[in-house]
Amino acid sequence: MAQFMARPSLIPKSLRFSPSIYSRTAPSYSLRAVTRFMSSSTSQPSYEYILVSRPEPSVVLVTLNRPKALNALCSPLFKELNQALEEADQDDSVGAMVLTGSEKAFAAGADIKEMKDKQYADVYKNKFLEDWGRIAHLRKPLIAAVSGYALGGGCELALMCDIILASPSAKFGQPEINLGVIPGGGGSQRLIHAIGKSRTMELVLTGRMFSAKEASDWGMVSRVVGEGEGEVVKEAINMAKEISGKSQLAVQAGKEVVNAAYEMTLAEGLRFERRIFHGLFATNDQKEGMAAFAEKRKANFTHS
Ligand code: CAA
Repeated sequence: MAQFMARPSLIPKSLRFSPSIYSRTAPSYSLRAVTRFMSSSTSQPSYEYILVSRPEPSVVLVTLNRPKALNALCSPLFKELNQALEEADQDDSVGAMVLTGSEKAFAAGADIKEMKDKQYADVYKNKFLEDWGRIAHLRKPLIAAVSGYALGGGCELALMCDIILASPSAKFGQPEINLGVIPGGGGSQRLIHAIGKSRTMELVLTGRMFSAKEASDWGMVSRVVGEGEGEVVKEAINMAKEISGKSQLAVQAGKEVVNAAYEMTLAEGLRFERRIFHGLFATNDQKEGMAAFAEKRKANFTHS
């Protein structure tokens, strides 16, 4: 199935059949026409496990699209995901990206059927799952819009994103212990930073699922959005659009300094933040942003 054979049920109702979600130049509102247009487009790579669209000119939406397996993260899916996100990251017209799954599952984890017969020599020699970390090296913000199951690698994937929005239906968890293993995509480490040691230990050792409300109360997700199919995706796209209206340089700098707090002591982090802050005074966007404030007008950032 090609990338743009969009399954309407995966896309918020209000965004369905809008030409902008598929392409800024799609000629028709009908699914058949959109599909025909996108299938015939040679400029876009063809994906089997994900859908890539532009709900706004400056926002790329990547939708995991392996519904029968609840978006289990098989290796080819992750390869496509890395490729699509890295392309969006390199595209100057893109300000932020959104990653989502279906209403039933953001992603139910790494593909257990793919993993079950693997041997130690194989996974070690071939650095199994190491390419998952590429998402954490994107320069631009990536917002996770999570509905349904986000388990194991699915929870880890959400944690790799810069911001997580959850629908009330979201169910998170690190159930690897039930499979005789432990998280391998960063869950144990990133969860500690997000929710603390005791909760992380409980979740990793029991495999218990936790709700969107718990994730929000613990500070793992920034908020739980309203009920309704596609609401969380709409909210994430609005947030991505808002971020895209800022200076890309300042946004990149903001992401870099916030992430640095994971790695540095407070003193190192404060020094790093100050240096990056100072550096922004060498940009046109700092001049424009402050001049616009003084002149009581909207800033027109040039990302330079
Ligand atoms: N890998 C491969 N296939 C999966 C999968 C996974 N992680 N999760 C679900 N599927 C498949 C099922 O095998 C099933 O396929 P078939 O129809 O071919 O049998 C299909 O998706 C639908 O799943 P269920 O019938 O199980 O759906 P359900 O609604 O009854 O249950 C669920 C949903 C609770 C999420 C259940 O599917 C489940 O427990 N999935 C596994 C969750 C899990 O253990 N994730 C961790 C994986 S390990 C990992 O991620 C390691 C790491 O750290 C990187």
